[in-house]
Amino acid sequence: MAKPRIDSDRLQRSLAELAKIGAYKDERTGLLGVNRLALTEADGLGRRLVKTWFEEAGLSVRVDRIGNVYARRRGRRDLEPVLSGSHIDSVPTGGAFDGSLGVLGALEVVRALDEARVETDRPIEIAFFTEEEGCRFGTDMLGSAVAVGRIPLERALSLKDRSGLVVRDELAKIGFAGTHDERLSPPHAYVECHIEQGPILRAAGKDLGVVTGVQAISWQEVSIQGKSAHAGTTPMSLRRDAGLAAARINLRMHEMAVSGKYGPEMRATMGGIEPAPGLVNIVPGRARVTVDLRNPDDALMTAAEKDLALFLRELEKDGFQVEARQTAKTPRVAFSSDVQAVIAAKMEKAGYSFQHLMSGAGHDAQEMASLCPTAMVFCPGEYDGISHNPRELSTPKQCADGVSILLETILELATT
Ligand code: GLV
Ligand code: MN
Ligand code: MN
Repeated sequence: MAKPRIDSDRLQRSLAELAKIGAYKDERTGLLGVNRLALTEADGLGRRLVKTWFEEAGLSVRVDRIGNVYARRRGRRDLEPVLSGSHIDSVPTGGAFDGSLGVLGALEVVRALDEARVETDRPIEIAFFTEEEGCRFGTDMLGSAVAVGRIPLERALSLKDRSGLVVRDELAKIGFAGTHDERLSPPHAYVECHIEQGPILRAAGKDLGVVTGVQAISWQEVSIQGKSAHAGTTPMSLRRDAGLAAARINLRMHEMAVSGKYGPEMRATMGGIEPAPGLVNIVPGRARVTVDLRNPDDALMTAAEKDLALFLRELEKDGFQVEARQTAKTPRVAFSSDVQAVIAAKMEKAGYSFQHLMSGAGHDAQEMASLCPTAMVFCPGEYDGISHNPRELSTPKQCADGVSILLETILELATT
């Protein structure tokens, strides 16, 4: 029996092939980006391609009622599987690696095991989960949250996108409204390889990262109702400018984050700002904004949410109607120290430099952590680890390093 080895070229070919689906040319840079927003036609095509690859690898594939796809490689014994995976949906301005590396990396692990004719005691399953990004239906980690029971199936299926299209119908349209039970029975362990999507590993000159957990995430959608008016004729003192209210909220969020009051790691982003009607000579009567707060400390996150809510009430005193709706919220999640130790030992043995770090981004792994021992491998990225952007790049070596550790970790976890 040969020692299984990752084929880096094959992994790159798979990543490049999948990245063609939903590819678009970024006007500013001329780079190719990826737009595979969840449950769009492009996502459907990507899903079908990866499902075909799973089938070609001899895996038995099942699709559950929220469209999560699982592919199983038999073990010598019919025990709980070791699960690995991620997502293949992307943000509309994405790159080739976010999520895809975890799914195609796990597929590369299976291909390497097959090539070396390695059997494992436990089955190995690969998953890709629905709408991890949350960019279309507003809630991130949607499929994996349903799989672990955090979000009820009916609620998830009823979510709507900005044009009123419903998850249930969109799943059916792309042929991924599966029939399998959406509740995943606890796997033996879950391990996910992902790009870091940040600058830490690259700056520290480390080959890889062992992920200790994921910080808390809180998303809101805030609607502001003011009063529309003519930009030339309406004195400043008589305006209720919803665009200005949006700007004040954004500024307040920024001040909160840099004040230190909510800890040194609080992050606040208003990524969506839509004044209406959005025209040069009209005072906006309405605005819709998004709020993304992150904090590794749950208590500090709660304090920040409360203070922001108070600020929104203050705006009401100035004559605005403000409605805030929580669209996603996850607490800080700590990963299994046992699985982290396996990953670190494999990195050590292979001679990689590495460090432990907490994830700034959300991941399907944080949902799986409520079901079974879980941890993640991070690969560094170029250009300060830029992600959710066409420039997103982990080199073939960085990808292969991470996936080879994924292989070794899965092999150990799948041995009884
Ligand atoms: C996932 O991409 C996130 O927003 O953290
Ligand atoms: Mn991701
Ligand atoms: Mn992402």
